[in-house]
Amino acid sequence: MAPYHPPSGGRRNKLRLDFNENTVGASPLVLDFIKRFLTAADLTIYPEYEHALEDLAAHFGVSHNELTLTNGTDEAIQLVVNTFIGDGQQVLILKPSYAMYRFYSELASAKVDAVEYRPKNLAFPLEELLERITPETRGVFISNPNNPTGTGTNVASLERILDRAQNAAVLVDEAYYEFCGVTMLSFLRNWPNLFVSRTFSKVYGMAAMRCGCLFSREENMTYVRKAQSPYSVNMLAAMAARIAVQDRKFVEDYVTEVLAAREFLYVGLERLGVPYYMSQANFVLFRAGDRAVEIRDELKRRGVLVRDRSYELPGCVRVTVGTHDQVEKFLKELEAIL
Ligand SMILES: Cc1ncc(COP(=O)(O)O)c(C=O)c1O
Repeated sequence: MAPYHPPSGGRRNKLRLDFNENTVGASPLVLDFIKRFLTAADLTIYPEYEHALEDLAAHFGVSHNELTLTNGTDEAIQLVVNTFIGDGQQVLILKPSYAMYRFYSELASAKVDAVEYRPKNLAFPLEELLERITPETRGVFISNPNNPTGTGTNVASLERILDRAQNAAVLVDEAYYEFCGVTMLSFLRNWPNLFVSRTFSKVYGMAAMRCGCLFSREENMTYVRKAQSPYSVNMLAAMAARIAVQDRKFVEDYVTEVLAAREFLYVGLERLGVPYYMSQANFVLFRAGDRAVEIRDELKRRGVLVRDRSYELPGCVRVTVGTHDQVEKFLKELEAIL
């Protein structure tokens, strides 16, 4: 396996537009709650998830038996692989997409086949993916919208995949759901092979907590829970997640701000003559040509972090969309470099 080393050192005190995190922080309610109500007992006792599960299930509109708390989406992916996919069995992923689908599948000795996003506009390759699904396919991993392309697909297309991949666990990773509004969560009971994941790492601004949710119908969750360590989510994260979902205004305001800033970013890139791909998430992939690495490095020197993706999409750099002011700072530095 190729080791996966995200460039995550030395990011404090920089404008962090490289990991698609919330660029302003978590809801103040979360920090306030932790500071005021955290007791010694909370740290002493092994985690008890009952209340968190009930509150989160109510928030997401599912039963508590259709939801498993996970140590970030990463553990959700790992659980789906470990529970349903055996040695040498086929897993389908898209390319490029979130690295952990391949990572956990390879770790489990699955046979990983990749279907490429359409080269011209990086659109979701529905027909190509459908063609590759066979009765032997055991897992299909889809990020919707997709990281790093920013492009997404719709419910009807996902249902065609679910219909065709009846022997597979199909995970729709909705890490960026809040920015696009397309979800499969309401279809959980229609499709026995459907899994959905959500995270507290992105819009909720809690990446350090490592908290996510995996959803599927009750019978699947029973299997998944067998494969999970009983205490993989720390209690602080579970408590924080319960509070975070209560502050709907925080999420709504941040999404509104990011969507406006994304338009501002498009206009700025056009003004600079930099081609980009329209995004349904809180990041935008732009084409820097053969200067991609140089631009990433020069932006870093000026205190702005972005992510080079040219190793998988020639010439491409990904920038997280934050507030209007943060985008403005990015555009100003990019203009100076160009
Ligand atoms: C599509 C996608 N899924 C999951 C994650 C990671 O989520 P978590 O922090 O919940 O493990 C990322 C992070 O970049 C992502 O882009």
